[in-house]
Amino acid sequence: MGLLDGKTVLVTGILTDASLAFAIAERTQLEGGTVIATGFGRGLSLTRRVLRKLPDTPELIELDVADPDSLASAAAAVSEITDHLDGVVHAVGFAPEACLGHGMMAASQEEAATAFTISAYSLAALCRTFHPMLCRAPAGASVVGLDFDASRAWPLYDWMGVMKASLESLSRYLARDLGPDQIRVNLVAAGPIRTMAAKSIPGFSTFEDTWSAGAPLGWDVGDAGPVASATVALLSDLFPATTGEILHVDGGIHALGAISPSPPPVA
Ligand SMILES: NC(=O)c1ccc[n+]([C@@H]2O[C@H](COP(=O)([O-])OP(=O)(O)OC[C@H]3O[C@@H](n4cnc5c(N)ncnc54)[C@H](O)[C@@H]3O)[C@@H](O)[C@H]2O)c1
Repeated sequence: MGLLDGKTVLVTGILTDASLAFAIAERTQLEGGTVIATGFGRGLSLTRRVLRKLPDTPELIELDVADPDSLASAAAAVSEITDHLDGVVHAVGFAPEACLGHGMMAASQEEAATAFTISAYSLAALCRTFHPMLCRAPAGASVVGLDFDASRAWPLYDWMGVMKASLESLSRYLARDLGPDQIRVNLVAAGPIRTMAAKSIPGFSTFEDTWSAGAPLGWDVGDAGPVASATVALLSDLFPATTGEILHVDGGIHALGAISPSPPPVA
Protein backbone atom coordinates (compact mmCIF):
# COMPACT_ATOMS: atom_id res chain seq x y z
CA MET A 1 0.00 0.00 0.00
CA GLY A 2 1.40 3.42 -0.98
CA LEU A 3 1.22 6.64 1.02
CA LEU A 4 -0.62 8.37 -1.84
CA ASP A 5 -2.89 5.56 -3.02
CA GLY A 6 -5.95 7.04 -4.71
CA LYS A 7 -4.67 10.62 -4.55
CA THR A 8 -4.33 12.97 -7.53
CA VAL A 9 -1.61 15.59 -7.32
CA LEU A 10 -0.91 18.52 -9.63
CA VAL A 11 2.87 18.97 -9.92
CA THR A 12 4.24 22.22 -11.36
CA GLY A 13 7.87 22.90 -12.21
CA ILE A 14 9.15 19.79 -14.01
CA LEU A 15 11.71 21.02 -16.53
CA THR A 16 14.48 18.40 -16.52
CA ASP A 17 15.00 15.11 -14.72
CA ALA A 18 17.12 17.08 -12.23
CA SER A 19 14.14 19.30 -11.28
CA LEU A 20 13.00 18.88 -7.68
CA ALA A 21 9.49 18.49 -9.11
CA PHE A 22 10.60 15.51 -11.21
CA ALA A 23 11.81 13.67 -8.10
CA ILE A 24 8.55 14.60 -6.34
CA ALA A 25 6.43 13.34 -9.26
CA GLU A 26 8.39 10.09 -9.39
CA ARG A 27 8.00 9.50 -5.65
CA THR A 28 4.31 10.42 -5.85
CA GLN A 29 3.75 7.73 -8.47
CA LEU A 30 5.81 5.17 -6.57
CA GLU A 31 3.55 5.82 -3.56
CA GLY A 32 0.44 5.10 -5.63
CA GLY A 33 -0.55 8.66 -6.55
CA THR A 34 -1.65 10.00 -9.93
CA VAL A 35 0.33 12.96 -11.22
CA ILE A 36 -0.91 15.74 -13.48
CA ALA A 37 2.09 17.77 -14.59
CA THR A 38 2.28 21.36 -15.77
CA GLY A 39 4.86 22.81 -18.12
CA PHE A 40 5.73 26.32 -19.14
CA GLY A 41 6.58 28.27 -22.28
CA ARG A 42 9.64 27.30 -24.25
CA GLY A 43 10.39 24.52 -21.75
CA LEU A 44 7.11 22.74 -22.53
CA SER A 45 8.55 20.36 -25.14
CA LEU A 46 11.47 19.55 -22.82
CA THR A 47 8.99 18.80 -20.03
CA ARG A 48 7.01 16.54 -22.39
CA ARG A 49 10.14 14.50 -23.17
CA VAL A 50 11.26 14.31 -19.55
CA LEU A 51 7.85 13.08 -18.36
CA ARG A 52 8.40 9.87 -20.37
CA LYS A 53 11.13 8.96 -17.88
CA LEU A 54 8.58 8.67 -15.05
CA PRO A 55 7.12 5.26 -14.17
CA ASP A 56 3.79 6.40 -15.77
CA THR A 57 3.74 9.29 -18.26
CA PRO A 58 1.43 11.87 -16.69
CA GLU A 59 -1.02 14.19 -18.43
CA LEU A 60 0.69 17.50 -19.24
CA ILE A 61 -1.08 20.85 -18.95
CA GLU A 62 0.42 24.15 -20.09
CA LEU A 63 0.63 26.71 -17.29
CA ASP A 64 2.33 30.08 -16.93
CA VAL A 65 1.76 30.99 -13.28
CA ALA A 66 2.23 34.69 -14.07
CA ASP A 67 -0.61 34.78 -16.62
CA PRO A 68 -4.23 34.84 -15.35
CA ASP A 69 -5.56 33.52 -18.70
CA SER A 70 -3.15 30.61 -18.58
CA LEU A 71 -4.21 29.83 -15.01
CA ALA A 72 -7.87 29.81 -16.08
CA SER A 73 -7.17 27.53 -19.08
CA ALA A 74 -5.15 25.19 -16.86
CA ALA A 75 -8.04 24.94 -14.39
CA ALA A 76 -10.40 24.05 -17.25
CA ALA A 77 -7.94 21.47 -18.62
CA VAL A 78 -7.43 19.84 -15.20
CA SER A 79 -11.18 19.67 -14.61
CA GLU A 80 -11.50 17.59 -17.79
CA ILE A 81 -9.18 15.01 -16.20
CA THR A 82 -10.43 14.96 -12.60
CA ASP A 83 -13.20 16.51 -10.50
CA HIS A 84 -10.89 17.11 -7.53
CA LEU A 85 -7.24 17.50 -6.52
CA ASP A 86 -5.81 16.01 -3.32
CA GLY A 87 -2.59 17.97 -3.67
CA VAL A 88 -0.77 20.75 -5.50
CA VAL A 89 3.01 21.09 -5.59
CA HIS A 90 4.40 24.60 -6.17
CA ALA A 91 7.91 24.10 -7.58
CA VAL A 92 8.24 27.28 -9.56
CA GLY A 93 10.85 29.98 -9.32
CA PHE A 94 12.34 32.63 -11.55
CA ALA A 95 14.25 35.88 -11.07
CA PRO A 96 15.81 38.12 -13.72
CA GLU A 97 19.59 37.96 -13.89
CA ALA A 98 20.17 41.20 -11.95
CA CYS A 99 18.35 39.70 -8.94
CA LEU A 100 20.93 37.00 -8.21
CA GLY A 101 24.62 37.26 -7.42
CA HIS A 102 24.95 41.03 -7.95
CA GLY A 103 24.06 42.32 -4.46
CA MET A 104 20.89 44.18 -3.53
CA MET A 105 21.55 47.40 -5.49
CA ALA A 106 21.52 45.91 -8.99
CA ALA A 107 17.89 44.90 -9.62
CA SER A 108 15.29 47.43 -10.77
CA GLN A 109 11.87 47.60 -9.18
CA GLU A 110 10.45 45.95 -12.30
CA GLU A 111 12.93 43.07 -12.14
CA ALA A 112 12.18 42.47 -8.45
CA ALA A 113 8.43 42.62 -9.21
CA THR A 114 8.82 39.95 -11.92
CA ALA A 115 10.63 37.71 -9.46
CA PHE A 116 7.86 38.28 -6.90
CA THR A 117 5.04 37.47 -9.32
CA ILE A 118 6.55 34.18 -10.47
CA SER A 119 8.32 33.01 -7.31
CA ALA A 120 5.99 34.08 -4.49
CA TYR A 121 2.60 35.47 -5.56
CA SER A 122 2.15 32.40 -7.74
CA LEU A 123 1.52 30.27 -4.64
CA ALA A 124 -1.62 32.32 -3.96
CA ALA A 125 -2.52 32.26 -7.66
CA LEU A 126 -2.32 28.46 -7.72
CA CYS A 127 -4.37 28.14 -4.52
CA ARG A 128 -7.06 30.47 -5.89
CA THR A 129 -7.17 28.76 -9.29
CA PHE A 130 -7.49 25.23 -7.93
CA HIS A 131 -9.43 26.08 -4.75
CA PRO A 132 -12.75 24.53 -5.89
CA MET A 133 -10.97 21.29 -6.86
CA LEU A 134 -8.95 21.20 -3.61
CA CYS A 135 -12.17 21.72 -1.61
CA ARG A 136 -13.59 18.54 -3.19
CA ALA A 137 -10.71 16.33 -1.95
CA PRO A 138 -12.41 13.63 0.12
CA ALA A 139 -9.86 13.60 2.97
CA GLY A 140 -8.70 17.24 2.88
CA ALA A 141 -6.05 18.57 0.53
CA SER A 142 -2.39 19.51 0.78
CA VAL A 143 -0.48 22.29 -0.98
CA VAL A 144 3.31 22.06 -0.72
CA GLY A 145 5.79 24.69 -1.92
CA LEU A 146 9.57 24.61 -2.19
CA ASP A 147 11.51 27.08 -0.11
CA PHE A 148 15.11 28.04 0.57
CA ASP A 149 15.49 29.05 4.24
CA ALA A 150 14.78 32.79 4.30
CA SER A 151 15.46 33.38 8.00
CA ARG A 152 18.89 34.82 7.20
CA ALA A 153 20.82 36.46 4.36
CA TRP A 154 22.88 34.05 2.24
CA PRO A 155 25.73 34.87 -0.12
CA LEU A 156 24.59 35.35 -3.76
CA TYR A 157 20.90 34.53 -3.22
CA ASP A 158 20.03 38.25 -3.00
CA TRP A 159 16.50 39.14 -4.21
CA MET A 160 15.52 35.48 -4.46
CA GLY A 161 16.00 35.35 -0.68
CA VAL A 162 13.49 38.19 -0.38
CA MET A 163 11.08 36.23 -2.59
CA LYS A 164 11.48 33.15 -0.41
CA ALA A 165 10.78 35.27 2.70
CA SER A 166 7.58 36.40 0.96
CA LEU A 167 6.72 32.81 0.09
CA GLU A 168 7.21 31.77 3.73
CA SER A 169 4.93 34.54 4.98
CA LEU A 170 2.37 33.88 2.25
CA SER A 171 2.23 30.18 3.12
CA ARG A 172 1.26 31.09 6.69
CA TYR A 173 -1.50 33.46 5.53
CA LEU A 174 -2.80 30.86 3.06
CA ALA A 175 -2.74 28.26 5.83
CA ARG A 176 -4.90 30.64 7.89
CA ASP A 177 -7.40 31.23 5.08
CA LEU A 178 -7.62 27.71 3.64
CA GLY A 179 -7.55 25.70 6.88
CA PRO A 180 -11.33 25.96 7.34
CA ASP A 181 -11.67 24.24 3.93
CA GLN A 182 -9.37 21.44 5.18
CA ILE A 183 -6.61 22.56 2.82
CA ARG A 184 -3.14 22.46 4.39
CA VAL A 185 -0.34 24.72 3.11
CA ASN A 186 3.24 23.85 3.98
CA LEU A 187 6.75 24.45 2.63
CA VAL A 188 9.80 22.23 2.32
CA ALA A 189 12.97 24.30 2.82
CA ALA A 190 15.50 22.39 0.75
CA GLY A 191 19.26 22.56 0.78
CA PRO A 192 20.97 23.26 -2.57
CA ILE A 193 20.31 20.74 -5.35
CA ARG A 194 21.96 21.05 -8.77
CA THR A 195 18.99 21.94 -10.99
CA MET A 196 18.54 24.32 -13.93
CA ALA A 197 17.32 27.09 -11.57
CA ALA A 198 20.27 26.54 -9.22
CA LYS A 199 22.76 26.71 -12.06
CA SER A 200 21.46 30.18 -12.94
CA ILE A 201 22.83 31.43 -9.60
CA PRO A 202 26.37 32.72 -10.26
CA GLY A 203 28.84 30.99 -7.92
CA PHE A 204 26.37 28.24 -6.97
CA SER A 205 29.22 25.73 -6.65
CA THR A 206 30.63 27.63 -3.62
CA PHE A 207 27.26 27.10 -2.00
CA GLU A 208 27.35 23.39 -2.78
CA ASP A 209 30.80 22.86 -1.26
CA THR A 210 29.99 24.73 1.96
CA TRP A 211 26.72 22.85 2.39
CA SER A 212 28.13 19.41 1.78
CA ALA A 213 31.01 20.00 4.20
CA GLY A 214 29.03 21.84 6.89
CA ALA A 215 25.70 19.98 7.20
CA PRO A 216 25.58 17.82 10.35
CA LEU A 217 24.03 14.98 8.33
CA GLY A 218 26.09 15.74 5.21
CA TRP A 219 24.43 16.81 1.98
CA ASP A 220 24.44 15.52 -1.58
CA VAL A 221 23.66 18.26 -4.13
CA GLY A 222 22.87 15.59 -6.71
CA ASP A 223 20.20 13.79 -4.66
CA ALA A 224 16.69 15.27 -4.64
CA GLY A 225 15.34 12.10 -2.95
CA PRO A 226 15.10 13.51 0.60
CA VAL A 227 13.23 16.60 -0.67
CA ALA A 228 10.86 14.36 -2.64
CA SER A 229 10.11 12.05 0.28
CA ALA A 230 9.45 14.97 2.67
CA THR A 231 7.11 16.54 0.11
CA VAL A 232 5.26 13.26 -0.38
CA ALA A 233 4.90 12.87 3.40
CA LEU A 234 3.27 16.34 3.56
CA LEU A 235 1.00 15.42 0.63
CA SER A 236 -0.07 12.23 2.39
CA ASP A 237 -2.48 11.70 5.28
CA LEU A 238 0.45 11.48 7.72
CA PHE A 239 0.30 15.20 8.62
CA PRO A 240 -3.44 15.89 8.98
CA ALA A 241 -3.00 18.60 11.63
CA THR A 242 0.04 20.38 10.19
CA THR A 243 -0.30 23.60 8.23
CA GLY A 244 1.66 26.86 7.94
CA GLU A 245 4.80 24.80 8.63
CA ILE A 246 8.28 24.93 7.10
CA LEU A 247 9.95 21.54 7.06
CA HIS A 248 13.72 21.86 6.63
CA VAL A 249 15.32 19.21 4.45
CA ASP A 250 18.85 20.56 4.39
CA GLY A 251 21.07 18.11 6.28
CA GLY A 252 20.61 20.24 9.41
CA ILE A 253 22.30 23.49 8.29
CA HIS A 254 19.38 25.66 9.46
CA ALA A 255 20.01 24.57 13.05
CA LEU A 256 23.57 25.89 13.14
CA GLY A 257 24.78 29.31 14.28
CA ALA A 258 27.83 29.10 12.01
CA ILE A 259 28.76 26.70 9.26
CA SER A 260 32.00 24.92 10.11
CA PRO A 261 33.72 23.02 7.29
CA SER A 262 34.85 20.26 9.66
CA PRO A 263 32.77 19.73 12.81
CA PRO A 264 34.76 18.67 15.92
CA PRO A 265 34.62 14.94 16.72
CA VAL A 266 32.25 13.82 19.48
CA ALA A 267 34.32 13.26 22.65
N1 LIG B 1 17.62 23.68 -6.53
C1 LIG B 1 17.78 24.17 -5.33
O1 LIG B 1 18.89 24.25 -4.80
C2 LIG B 1 16.58 24.65 -4.56
C3 LIG B 1 16.66 24.76 -3.17
C4 LIG B 1 15.55 25.22 -2.46
C5 LIG B 1 14.38 25.54 -3.14
N2 LIG B 1 14.34 25.43 -4.50
C6 LIG B 1 13.10 25.79 -5.19
O2 LIG B 1 12.58 24.66 -5.87
C7 LIG B 1 11.70 25.13 -6.88
C8 LIG B 1 11.98 24.35 -8.16
O3 LIG B 1 13.24 24.73 -8.68
P1 LIG B 1 14.33 23.67 -9.17
O4 LIG B 1 15.56 23.93 -8.37
O5 LIG B 1 13.78 22.30 -9.23
O6 LIG B 1 14.70 24.22 -10.63
P2 LIG B 1 14.07 23.95 -12.08
O7 LIG B 1 14.75 24.94 -12.97
O8 LIG B 1 14.17 22.54 -12.44
O9 LIG B 1 12.55 24.34 -11.87
C9 LIG B 1 12.07 25.67 -11.91
C10 LIG B 1 10.73 25.58 -12.63
O10 LIG B 1 10.05 26.82 -12.61
C11 LIG B 1 9.31 26.85 -13.83
N3 LIG B 1 8.84 28.20 -14.12
C12 LIG B 1 9.56 29.35 -14.24
N4 LIG B 1 8.75 30.36 -14.56
C13 LIG B 1 7.48 29.84 -14.64
C14 LIG B 1 6.21 30.40 -14.93
N5 LIG B 1 6.04 31.69 -15.21
N6 LIG B 1 5.13 29.57 -14.92
C15 LIG B 1 5.26 28.25 -14.63
N7 LIG B 1 6.45 27.67 -14.34
C16 LIG B 1 7.54 28.47 -14.36
C17 LIG B 1 10.30 26.34 -14.86
O11 LIG B 1 9.65 25.95 -16.06
C18 LIG B 1 10.89 25.17 -14.10
O12 LIG B 1 10.14 24.00 -14.35
C19 LIG B 1 11.93 26.64 -6.98
O13 LIG B 1 10.91 27.29 -6.23
C20 LIG B 1 13.25 26.83 -6.28
O14 LIG B 1 13.43 28.12 -5.76
C21 LIG B 1 15.40 24.98 -5.22
